[in-house]
Amino acid sequence: MFKRPKVSVVGAGGNVGAAVVQWCAQKELADLYLIDLKMDVAEGKAIDLVQGGAVGGFCPKFLASDDYSQLKDSDVVVVTAGVPRKPGQTREELVSINAGIVKSICEEVVKYCPQTILIIVSNPLDAMLTVAQKVTGFPRERVIGMSGVLDSSRFRSNISKALGVHSKDINAIVIGAHTDKDMVPIVSTATVGGIPLTQLATSEQIADIVQKTKNGGADLTKLIGTSAWVAPGFGVTAMVESILLNQGRILPCSVELKGEYGIQDACLCVPVKLTHKGAEKVYEFKLSETETAALEAAYKAYLDVKKIALACL
Ligand code: 2OP
Repeated sequence: MFKRPKVSVVGAGGNVGAAVVQWCAQKELADLYLIDLKMDVAEGKAIDLVQGGAVGGFCPKFLASDDYSQLKDSDVVVVTAGVPRKPGQTREELVSINAGIVKSICEEVVKYCPQTILIIVSNPLDAMLTVAQKVTGFPRERVIGMSGVLDSSRFRSNISKALGVHSKDINAIVIGAHTDKDMVPIVSTATVGGIPLTQLATSEQIADIVQKTKNGGADLTKLIGTSAWVAPGFGVTAMVESILLNQGRILPCSVELKGEYGIQDACLCVPVKLTHKGAEKVYEFKLSETETAALEAAYKAYLDVKKIALACL
């Protein structure tokens, strides 16, 4: 008899966590365990979701709890818990407060579901992934950060808007750090309907698209007053779906690099293959000189934030 997969979302009462629950529920990917210190909020949002399911065509099973023992046997654990940034703040400024939160959650993950695949969303993402890696000691394929899936979706959306074409036909990824300064939109391989972006857009247009992509999160935080949650929720769900359904999608995610791109012992976003094993394979590909330099700068910036994060452990 097939058992439905189990996905736990820690921080499910928050905006991003609730968005992850919503998209996973709409796709009926798994039984959903909503872990949050404010479990009533998580439960209320989930009941609202289920009540919409009758008309929306989905009927999720969920359980809300503030008890970490409910993590037991989770196939995937998504961690969205932590303080979101405020207008004008960088993600990196959240490092000290969120490192402690992610550390304590990861200790519970080790206790209750040591075989799970962990997806970290909390910011500053690459440093929080490092915390998760150090605290759990899981192999790198089972500790994955949601960053480039979101940034690449913004990159594609900005190209779509600039060229007046459907975003479905745009292939473009962002690698590097999940920070306003050091994410690296890859122009050299971006295509629109199979045509290189560089043949369809002027260099001024491309520079504007790249800048809008890097500022994507900060611009929304200024407008909304807190971090975005709909697109991040879609990004996490694409990762969860590829893992649970063993799709083998190649998505840009933050993982520990072990020499790829000439980088060791650092968590940065690169293309990975997502299967039931997690980030089963890390891909290297040819970057332009500018992109190589930008990735190197992202690595250097990451080291500073990593130091602060690890000092909190
Ligand atoms: C963003 O870029 C929350 O870091 C996330 O919107």
